[in-house]
Amino acid sequence: MSTAETATVLDLPELETETGAAFETIEIDPEAKLTLGIETSCDETAVAILRGGSDVLANVISSSAPLHDKYGGVVPEVASREHVQAINPAIEEALMRADLTLWDLSAVAVTAGPGLIGCLVVGVAAAKSLASVLEVPLIGVNHLEAHIYANFLEHAEFRPPAVGLIVSGGHTLLVRMHDHGLYEIVGQTLDDAAGEAFDKIARYLGLGFPGGPAIEQAASGGDPAAIRFPRAIRDGFDFSFSGVKTAVLNYIRKEKAQGREPNIPDICASFQEAVIEVQVEKTIRAAESFGVSNVFVSGGVAANSRLRQWLGESCKQIGARLFYPSPIFCTDNAAMVACCGYHRLARGIRSSLDIVADPNLPLA
Ligand code: KG4
Ligand code: ZN
Repeated sequence: MSTAETATVLDLPELETETGAAFETIEIDPEAKLTLGIETSCDETAVAILRGGSDVLANVISSSAPLHDKYGGVVPEVASREHVQAINPAIEEALMRADLTLWDLSAVAVTAGPGLIGCLVVGVAAAKSLASVLEVPLIGVNHLEAHIYANFLEHAEFRPPAVGLIVSGGHTLLVRMHDHGLYEIVGQTLDDAAGEAFDKIARYLGLGFPGGPAIEQAASGGDPAAIRFPRAIRDGFDFSFSGVKTAVLNYIRKEKAQGREPNIPDICASFQEAVIEVQVEKTIRAAESFGVSNVFVSGGVAANSRLRQWLGESCKQIGARLFYPSPIFCTDNAAMVACCGYHRLARGIRSSLDIVADPNLPLA
């Protein structure tokens, strides 16, 4: 028998609001709810099934990254074509891994934006069809909010108020989470996203795509103090990575012009150190100035172990606690989408079936 069939129906006593109106009294046990999450905002076709708010029953990720490798970045048309081919098999695979059928699902959550429009529409169309046929709630989710919710998958103690970084291939945001669904962007990048800087340097060095993991690996054999690349540490909370990126490119050109073979491990380690120092400095300063003791980091770049280690140590020094997801939940996945959808639905938020994908959907 499936989990959905064994879901408990609670017969709660009637509750009165201050104004005397009655709350709804019968609710399915939220911990038994089965939420299907769908993520297609960039180059991952991801489908996950979540029981309650944190029990990941299936987490299927099919990436088209190898097809983009020779271009050094995601080609939108190629990515959307791959989503069309991968979405149904990914849904079937997730159901199989969770040992469920479509009819067991209680809700469908989907990334509605931001992202590549031709990619988003594939997931949104699939989610709408499922929610409509199964007659279950549809929840449109903001991809950036979902990255924050990746922290709720594994950390029961994580809760707002919190401040943290969302660092991915498309975004670099310093966010204050006042409460569930209540965000304030306190800083963002003025040029490249953090992950984009990693990807561009990796492309230049011929290390492949995505560049972050390749740079981290090369950096492990290098000296982070070998080259002093510039840090754009300014008064505010905004970021700029184009200066360090240009400095690295100029350094490599100069080395080659002088007949020297650039030391790739040293360059990667020194570049990584410069980029991470800025992220740590601003996050810690934000946590201190807002008096917040819960700090998070999420998004693809949060998989970087040097960032996790440095930020963790700095949080300890100011008496704050750092939360980050496992690497598999840092990069794009649908478990975080299902988790975000679960929390939205728990607050009574659901989308109508005519929801449209929005490539520029704002977080706050
Ligand atoms: O969150 P994500 O999967 O997709 C977007 O929403 O953009 O992030 C992908 C980005 C890529 O730029 C990739 O190079 C970077 O995350 N990344 C990393 C690491 N793993 C992935 N950057 C630094 N170190 C890593 N270990
Ligand atoms: Zn992402």
